[in-house]
Amino acid sequence: MDQIVSETEFKRACVIGSPIAHSRSPLIHNYWLKQHGIAGSYDKIEVKPGELSAFFASMATLGFAGCNVTVPHKEEALRLAKHRTARADEFGAANTIWFEDGELCADNTDSHGYEMSLDQDAPGWDSAERALVLGAGGASRAIIAALLRRGVERIDLVNRSVERAEELARLFGKSVRAFGFERAPALMKDADLLVNTTALGMLGKEPLDLSLDTLKEGALVSDIVYVPLETGLLKQAKARSHRVAGGLGMLLHQAVPGFVYWFGAAPEVTPALRAILEDDVRKAGG
Ligand code: ATR
Repeated sequence: MDQIVSETEFKRACVIGSPIAHSRSPLIHNYWLKQHGIAGSYDKIEVKPGELSAFFASMATLGFAGCNVTVPHKEEALRLAKHRTARADEFGAANTIWFEDGELCADNTDSHGYEMSLDQDAPGWDSAERALVLGAGGASRAIIAALLRRGVERIDLVNRSVERAEELARLFGKSVRAFGFERAPALMKDADLLVNTTALGMLGKEPLDLSLDTLKEGALVSDIVYVPLETGLLKQAKARSHRVAGGLGMLLHQAVPGFVYWFGAAPEVTPALRAILEDDVRKAGG
């Protein structure tokens, strides 16, 4: 017989953004709900630009314990929250929202997610002294923070627009130095860790046109792109016998704190969950 669940026991969360159709967060959270035997659901909801505050105002009435927030609402979500974690304030953007005593709270779990993903996928990665980071957007900021937190001593940041890299480097102080993209081959010689934080190499986007000929022997190569699962960068790195870490781990691990906030249980990133996500990415042509 089906278990009868009262409305008050049933917990709901969702991911909001625009576009949202391709979000894989429901796969992750609905898997965990089932694993933990929690009566609940996690949906994706299209919230168009300009509609965020109205959505937040109706969220509790709709029965949501909270949500994940993605493009284009991450900055506004932070502004609208009554309480913010220090790391959300630090990044100027929120990806996770929940209620405490009826008040809206905001966190940013991207940096934590990246750190946990490398811990799982490339143990010992934090022995790296020097890193080369490609790209200077929001993802880059979260990743640089994770690298510094874990003791990487020096980060060379290269970006198509050097001004944007310089701006980001200034936020972090003297451990981070900014360069134009053309400096990447020279900087690779000393890099223990190379990270792509741009969307280059993603299915449907331009390829990342970068030869690893000069990359330091033994360097770890990490790509936050996960469609395809093995990007051109990772393929090239593997062929050169570098250790590699794909982007799926960051997606999976950034989801963990949200599940805890909304559903009150600590979920795990297991091989079985990873396999479900991998299947889905492959179905999408990745
Ligand atoms: P996110 O928040 O996901 O990191 P973003 O803020 O739009 O996204 O940042 C995208 C990054 O990819 C930037 O570093 C961007 O370089 P610019 O700052 O010069 O725009 C980089 N990027 C995007 N398209 C690129 C391209 N065709 N060639 C080189 N870099 C590119």
